[in-house]
Amino acid sequence: MDHRFLKVSWDGRVGKIRLHRPEVLNALHTPLVEELAEVLERMDQNPEVRCILITGGDRVFAAGADIGEMADADSVRMLLSDQFAQWERIRRIHKPIVAAVAGYALGGGCELAMACDMIVAAETAHFGQPEINLGVMPGAGGTQRLTRAVGKARAMEMVLTGRPISAGEAWEAGLVNRIVPLENLELEAMKLCREVAAKAPIALRLAKEAVLKAFDTTIADGLDYEQKLFYFLFSTEDQKEGMRAFMEKRRPHFRGE
Ligand code: CAA
Repeated sequence: MDHRFLKVSWDGRVGKIRLHRPEVLNALHTPLVEELAEVLERMDQNPEVRCILITGGDRVFAAGADIGEMADADSVRMLLSDQFAQWERIRRIHKPIVAAVAGYALGGGCELAMACDMIVAAETAHFGQPEINLGVMPGAGGTQRLTRAVGKARAMEMVLTGRPISAGEAWEAGLVNRIVPLENLELEAMKLCREVAAKAPIALRLAKEAVLKAFDTTIADGLDYEQKLFYFLFSTEDQKEGMRAFMEKRRPHFRGE
């Protein structure tokens, strides 16, 4: 299938998506986000895909929502266009998603990276929420995910000044998993994806769900939830295979059953 704003490929069990709208620094206009949601949903349904990588270009991951698309909008048009419905589709993807970020991840670009489950950053990466400079504020999770990731003080400063942080600051703040030289970005991100992709798919799905649950529940409810998912995994073939393989001192072969 042809894609207009994405380059899509497969590398073993990893589905790779490259944002590709270079003339506007991968600005995330509605058709791009729609296409991204569609491709992610297809990969989520495809049993061959066990982990997903989202990346951009060497100079920019994504420079945010498309300002040209929004400049003349009014509140009613914004409300009725319901553009964040596409972001909600992305939030509902069950498979692990890794973002590989080089250069600018600004506004919606930073929000997209944060909507992924892990972030591998090139040394050149910059993360920011500059919407305040446009007279607005983040709208795709920037005030919520950023605050949970880096804490109130840093999030306030980033959102209220619009000033981006470097890859090093993002790592210190706990926003990214690791920093790598630009030339190794895809290699290192793929290494992480392959490591994840080798695990049991149903356990991956439920483990992702349980970690995300920690962000919107009490500790008691979260622990109950975790236990139920844990017990459920004992009805999978992969649990039998994983534990048998350990006892037999061999590598497990997970089939997602
Ligand atoms: N939307 C639309 N077009 C964009 C864009 C965006 N977010 N970011 C860059 N572009 C376009 C520029 O208009 C320019 O187009 P032309 O060549 O036709 O003039 C082209 O991409 C190259 O950009 P620059 O010339 O500005 O490149 P630069 O290297 O000088 O600067 C930059 C790079 C610092 C990223 C700068 O482009 C910039 O500040 N971009 C805007 C970042 C921003 O404000 N993002 C937040 C958007 S709002 C949002 O995301 C809301 C939300 O929460 C959902």
